[in-house]
Amino acid sequence: MERERVRQPEARPAFTSHYEAMNKRMEAELEEDKKYWDKAVTKAADTKLVFSARRGARVAMMTGMFAAVKSKPLDGRVAQILPGSHTSTHKHSYETMMFITEGMGYSIVGGKRYNWAERDCLYIPPNVWHQHWNRDADKPAGYFSITNAPLIQSMRLLEMEDIGDAPEHPDEKAEETYYEQELAKAQEILNDRADTPIIRKWRTVNLKLNERGAKSSYVIDPNMFKTGGIDMAMNMLPPGGYMMSHRHGGGALIYIVEGKGYTLIDGVKHEWEKGDLIWVSHWCWHQHFNRDLENPAVYIRNVEGTWALKNLMAPLVSGAAEHRNDGPDALGIVWPEEGEHAHDHPGGED
Ligand SMILES: [Fe+2]
Ligand SMILES: [Fe+2]
Repeated sequence: MERERVRQPEARPAFTSHYEAMNKRMEAELEEDKKYWDKAVTKAADTKLVFSARRGARVAMMTGMFAAVKSKPLDGRVAQILPGSHTSTHKHSYETMMFITEGMGYSIVGGKRYNWAERDCLYIPPNVWHQHWNRDADKPAGYFSITNAPLIQSMRLLEMEDIGDAPEHPDEKAEETYYEQELAKAQEILNDRADTPIIRKWRTVNLKLNERGAKSSYVIDPNMFKTGGIDMAMNMLPPGGYMMSHRHGGGALIYIVEGKGYTLIDGVKHEWEKGDLIWVSHWCWHQHFNRDLENPAVYIRNVEGTWALKNLMAPLVSGAAEHRNDGPDALGIVWPEEGEHAHDHPGGED
């Protein structure tokens, strides 16, 4: 170290900085998630399909925002279209992957028709109009779908529009399902998003000492502004001071507002001064130092909040899968003969 260490305060101060607020928020989310850790199985037998007049189909959410198990970032749903019937036409800002569980029919996706039958799969892109039809006049058609609606909702980007055309079914008792709730939620988010504060005046920002040894405050706080999960905080380093080395999920962009100093990123020193922008990669140790012995250094940091979701999820889908053959010998099993037309189904090639 080329200069004197900053003297530590005698008594530990009470921290109320943005850092503490951020940690409290993350702890609360973890506590919420823990409620569902032991609810591994959602039984088909407990999943009641209920007729939605808006959707024109029987629907149920198995896990997700309107189910008992609030899975994130994906949810699982099931639906059944009555014989010879069809759903409403709708679109939404989340993606859907469908697996046909019974029957035969077709979907109109972005104006094009796609025929399907049991075990076919469909991908419905975000914000594309779609509608599902049951071609069989006697049997219901059903599908299971996975969507990323909870992820989109958590970023407050849920949008959904239903333009109707669902036929009435005099035999079906229509009830409020997750579908009506989901439409209402999308509308609520849309209204709420437009209702956000737009400006944070500098005179209202109050920098407070935090646990890393800097003074800091949110300037755009997701609690105050209705952002999709991004936030901006201001940090101040004392003259000749530094903050503790730390790392976090999601990279960070750090813009130097005033002062001059350097940052250790994974042990490598990077000099900076007013107007510079530093990028710190995901989960990389870093520490900021103020070189100026007379004046504080000030910077704004933007953790890649929304992108953090993508970065944090990347390890889950990268790396090779491994297996162990330490139980009964899986490769020694004798398989029954498979019929020649095992994969034929009435849907044909579409
Ligand atoms: Fe849909
Ligand atoms: Fe950081």
